[in-house]
Amino acid sequence: MITFRRMVPEDADALAVVEEKCFSVPWSREAFWRDASNTDAYYLLAIDTGQNDRIIGYVGCWILAYEGSITNVAIDPEYRRQGIGRKMLLKLIEIVKEKGVTALTLEVRVSNAPAISLYEGLGFKSVGQRPKYYTNPVEAAEIMWKTHL
Ligand SMILES: CC(C)(COP(=O)(O)OP(=O)(O)OC[C@H]1O[C@@H](n2cnc3c(N)ncnc32)[C@H](O)[C@@H]1OP(=O)(O)O)[C@@H](O)C(=O)NCCC(=O)NCCS
Repeated sequence: MITFRRMVPEDADALAVVEEKCFSVPWSREAFWRDASNTDAYYLLAIDTGQNDRIIGYVGCWILAYEGSITNVAIDPEYRRQGIGRKMLLKLIEIVKEKGVTALTLEVRVSNAPAISLYEGLGFKSVGQRPKYYTNPVEAAEIMWKTHL
C-alpha cells in the first residue's frame, strides 16, 4: 500500500537516492536535511508500506504567506504511471490549503511533457517561460500557477 507522510531530517539519505534516479542535476542530502528543518517548507513523501516503508517519491513546497512554491516532484521510476504522483500532489494541495495557501506556483522544463501533463490535469496553467532556467542541459522553464485550490 502507498501512504503519505511529512519528511523529517532523518529521511534525507533515502531521498537523495530517489533524487539520483530522477534528475540530471540531483539535490544533495544536505538540501533535503535543510528543508526538513525549515518551518516554511512542507515536504510530503510517498511510502510503500509493502516494502519496509521505502520512500518512493516526494513533493516539496515552500510556503510564503498565501503562496506556495512547489520546489520539486519526483516518483521513483519503478513506481510511475500508477497515479501516485497525482495522489501525492492532491494530498499536498489539501495540506497547504489548510495552512492558508490560496495559490501555488512551480517551474518545469519546457520539454517535460509527463510533468506538464500531470500539472495541467490538476488545474495548473502556464503563464510564461524563464529562458535558460535549467542547466545540464540548458533549457527554459515553463512557469505554472494554480490559483483556485
Ligand atoms: C512527473 C512524475 C512525478 C509523474 O509521476 P507519476 O506517479 O508517474 O504520475 P501519475 O501516474 O500520477 O500520472 C498522472 C498524470 O500525469 C501525466 N503523466 C505521467 N507520466 C506521463 C508520461 N510518461 N507521459 C505522459 N503523461 C504522463 C498523465 O497526464 C497522467 O494522467 P493519466 O495517467 O490519467 O494519463 C514522474 O514521471 C517523475 O518523477 N518524473 C521525473 C521527475 C520530474 O520530471 N519531476 C517534475 C519536475 S518539475
